[in-house]
Amino acid sequence: ETEAGIDMLLSEMTLQEKIGQLTQLGTFDEESDMELVEEGMVGSLLGVRGADNVNAIQRAAVEQSRLGIPLLFADDVIHGYRSTFPIPLAEASSWNPELLEETAAIAAREASSDGINWILAPMVDIARDARWGRIAEGAGEDPYLGSVVAAARVRGIQRNDWTDRPHIMACPKHFAAYGLAEGGRDYNTVDISETRMRETYFPPFQAALDAGAGTMMAAFNEINGVPASANRWLLKDVLQGEWGFQGFVVSDWESVDEIVQHGFAADREQAGAEAMNAGMHMDMHSLIYHEHLANLLEKGEVSLDAIDDAVRRILRVKYRLGLFTHPYQDNTLASTYMLNPAHLETAREMARQSIVLLKNEGSLLPIAPSVRKLAVIGPLAEDVEAQLGCWRGQGRPEDVVSVLAGIRSLAEAQGAEVVYAAGSSIREAGDTSELARAVRLAAESELAIVVLGESADMSGENNSRVSLDIPEPQMELLQAVHATGVPVVLVLSNGRPLTIEWAAAKIPAIVNAWHLGVQAGPALADVLFGAANPSGKLPVTFPRHAGQVPIYYNAKKTGRPHMKRYADADITPLYTFGHGLSYTSFSYEELQLEQTVAKLGESVTVSARISNTGDRDGVEIVQLYICDEAASVTRPVKELKGFSRITLKAGESRTVTFTLGTKKLGFINSKHQFVVEPGKFKVWIGPSSAEGLEGSFEIIG
Ligand code: IFM
Repeated sequence: ETEAGIDMLLSEMTLQEKIGQLTQLGTFDEESDMELVEEGMVGSLLGVRGADNVNAIQRAAVEQSRLGIPLLFADDVIHGYRSTFPIPLAEASSWNPELLEETAAIAAREASSDGINWILAPMVDIARDARWGRIAEGAGEDPYLGSVVAAARVRGIQRNDWTDRPHIMACPKHFAAYGLAEGGRDYNTVDISETRMRETYFPPFQAALDAGAGTMMAAFNEINGVPASANRWLLKDVLQGEWGFQGFVVSDWESVDEIVQHGFAADREQAGAEAMNAGMHMDMHSLIYHEHLANLLEKGEVSLDAIDDAVRRILRVKYRLGLFTHPYQDNTLASTYMLNPAHLETAREMARQSIVLLKNEGSLLPIAPSVRKLAVIGPLAEDVEAQLGCWRGQGRPEDVVSVLAGIRSLAEAQGAEVVYAAGSSIREAGDTSELARAVRLAAESELAIVVLGESADMSGENNSRVSLDIPEPQMELLQAVHATGVPVVLVLSNGRPLTIEWAAAKIPAIVNAWHLGVQAGPALADVLFGAANPSGKLPVTFPRHAGQVPIYYNAKKTGRPHMKRYADADITPLYTFGHGLSYTSFSYEELQLEQTVAKLGESVTVSARISNTGDRDGVEIVQLYICDEAASVTRPVKELKGFSRITLKAGESRTVTFTLGTKKLGFINSKHQFVVEPGKFKVWIGPSSAEGLEGSFEIIG
């Protein structure tokens, strides 16, 4: 029915109307652009919000344009719409696909009530270089975890649990390997083998498509000399050919125009031809298709088939969203949805689960009820902008409960006194009297909670850093507070892994809190005071020095594994992938393999018994890793192949079982085929990528 409708429309469309469908305006000026909409010269708009605004423009498309084709209204909804959730890297630390799906669904519901029907997310780029600012937007370094998170987010965005309004579509981005930008510099060159591309960078995109994503955004970067936006191998051969993708590809902001800046096309017209012939269906904001496609067709440099194919794909998505029958948004919903109490409760729960307890010497945390006077120190304690993180969507600073407010309210409810000093600025050298005041307040308290890290604009797009250190004025503050001898809890408020070797050695308790969204303060207070037991695990490695990046747990073995070293520093990470503590303790015992020998095509089942050996209930994220010991393409030292988030009461034990099927045992060989090869494997079940019970099995041919 859909394809028949599309055929009919295509048969009636003029060339200009077809090109219109392929054009997205990144900004909308009512005076000049409404006419384009009425003429059917636009397919999508970006960043127009508010159901009434959207409906007015949609009405022009549906009721004024000749064929009445509705528009797609796109927006970057990265970690919440008005109810801002923790940044995506933080949410990934929950290793909780159900909750990730829920926050994505809430974000989509709020966005939809504001007229949005196309969400430019999830960002599924694997990132192993913490200098890159956009590491904050993804799920970290691992393709398996990244795929689980990508699928959960797409399911949430596209949950579409309403029938009377336009549905919403996800747009996984940025295809592909954007996170591999050389030197961590945004938009930079990517040079990558096809094996690594397929094994590390493609899986989250494939998972997002398997979860039903109907659109995909191409990346800004070049790949092996060809910009992603003009890359036929990537867009046509792999995505549309091999994977059979039936949806459409949108460029990134002006990335069709940037084909010229890359030096891959001499001018805008040629850039348009390269993009169209590579399988780029919609041009975001550069207006190159709008200006040049007709001419290119006339010159024979693009074909009508290619244009028709692009139009068909875009119309298919519009049908799938129900836009032809339900073009308008109900304008009464936003007031109920935005900052709905249930959404805020989910924001608080997600923030609790996003927090990673890195260190807790002497069980300094949770804060003992006997503590009567607490100092909260640090420029990020009151900084509500920071908690919104990068891509804050419609989140507003006034919606955020600060870390200080959260701590104050919980501590005061318990009868404890809270004193506060910023102590320093975030990056600039500040007033020494403020530092002195902070030190004095800390010295007069029983415990100091020092909240340090990065402002919102220190991560995100085009916010790469050369240093991963806590900025100097804040380090001075931390060292001065530490020198008072008062016990210190360091809370990191950050958009990326930070290098905190000094703190890891000197400060007894370290809580990695990321940028936690609107409920940052209450969630953090819940964890600090023990109302919630931390359960987050790192989705990304914390290096000791920026000079170690890229650093990731699933590295190759090399020929001299025993000689891997730096001459001037420890080569190991400071905190490994998968690390995260709890206020209780867990033991791992009885690793059992149902098969120690299995035939090709058969599965291997492995289990272990996990016990809560402490005196509090807690959640443990049990992780499964394997290593294929010898293969026709060398394999990483360890690869995550499963995880299970289990809740155990104090004293309780449970057996956790994993099945390693063909999909988990194979890899991409040198012919770029997925294969399982006979041979020996190691397997681990453990609490992080560096610990666990070890076993082995063999696959025979
Ligand atoms: O969706 C974004 C993308 O992630 C970065 N460039 C701009 C796009 C639209 O805002």
